[in-house]
Amino acid sequence: MQAPTAENFSAETILWTRRWSEKLISFRISRPADFRFTPGQFARLGLAQDSGKIWRAYSMVSAPWDEYLEFFSILVPDGQFTSRLKQLQVGDTLLLDQKPNGFFTADRLPDGCELWLLATGTGLAPYLSILQQPELWARFEHIVLVHAVREAGDLAYTDEIAALRQHPLWAAYGHKLRYVPVVTRDAPHGMLNARIPALIEDGRLEAAAGLTLTPEHSRFMICGNPKMVADTFRTLLQRGYSLSRLKTPGQIVLENGW
Ligand SMILES: Cc1cc2nc3c(=O)[nH]c(=O)nc-3n(C[C@H](O)[C@H](O)[C@H](O)COP(=O)(O)OP(=O)(O)OC[C@H]3O[C@@H](n4cnc5c(N)ncnc54)[C@H](O)[C@@H]3O)c2cc1C
Ligand SMILES: NC(=O)c1ccc[n+]([C@@H]2O[C@H](COP(=O)([O-])OP(=O)(O)OC[C@H]3O[C@@H](n4cnc5c(N)ncnc54)[C@H](OP(=O)(O)O)[C@@H]3O)[C@@H](O)[C@H]2O)c1
Repeated sequence: MQAPTAENFSAETILWTRRWSEKLISFRISRPADFRFTPGQFARLGLAQDSGKIWRAYSMVSAPWDEYLEFFSILVPDGQFTSRLKQLQVGDTLLLDQKPNGFFTADRLPDGCELWLLATGTGLAPYLSILQQPELWARFEHIVLVHAVREAGDLAYTDEIAALRQHPLWAAYGHKLRYVPVVTRDAPHGMLNARIPALIEDGRLEAAAGLTLTPEHSRFMICGNPKMVADTFRTLLQRGYSLSRLKTPGQIVLENGW
């Protein structure tokens, strides 16, 4: 990833951290007043080290109106960035590239009846911000959030997802959200336990959501493990869906999680 130049980043303060498990953490940093983003976009966060600065992309979790920026991160053993991130505490500094980036936004999809938000791991992050847009709740009749993880302990943000349904700004539409957790290793009894493409192919995802997939009505956002993104995209292509582009609207937008 291209490093921002010295003029275009700010030093921000870590305000809050939450450790979900050995390998997952969330944190908030102070937000410059002029840092404006569209939900689904990512920020570049930086850390100073002896050999210069190291930058990594992170999707915003927080709402555009929150006074802070929240992020949800994997902790990769020996990861260049996250092994340092893991040690940071409230009051420490993180660098923030001034400009948000990316095109993984719901406005790239044409209207439809059902919006499927498909994530593995920290690919959940952009959806937590995307789901904070009142207009999104009005646009679709159903919104299905699918979060696939290795182990049940990786299912972060379950309380926050449940609370989204009660939000006063879209309370009238709260019933539209269906949350479908998937655990691929040692799944608790009754929980979906296969990879997303397989769940699409054998009809279990539709059954879990109580909805039918059709190119006419279904729209998809896909984010997470790049292999999952590629495999899910291929599965949907074979079923007659296509990538949504500016000049040729389709049913799918996607983003690789690394
Ligand atoms: C557009 C974009 C948005 C991103 N948003 C997020 C985000 O919101 N949260 C987040 O944790 N990461 C996100 N990433 C990945 C992030 O930039 C870092 O790669 C990650 O935090 C690990 O950094 P690292 O230097 O420790 O390890 P790296 O050297 O960057 O990665 C080492 C290896 O760890 C694995 N890996 C990297 N990221 C992940 C991940 N998120 N989940 C599982 N395995 C991973 C891969 O196998 C990778 O090869 C995003 C990447 C891109 C391109
Ligand atoms: N700090 C620690 O203690 C610790 C411990 C363990 C791992 N890690 C790190 O965590 C990272 C893994 O994180 P993660 O579990 O969030 O991410 P992940 O490996 O991407 O797994 C997340 C989900 O994506 C699924 N998936 C993977 N490939 C897929 C594909 N081609 N199609 C559909 N689904 C697919 C996985 O299913 P499957 O289960 O079937 O693969 C799993 O359900 C690694 O980088 C590892 O180094 C850290």
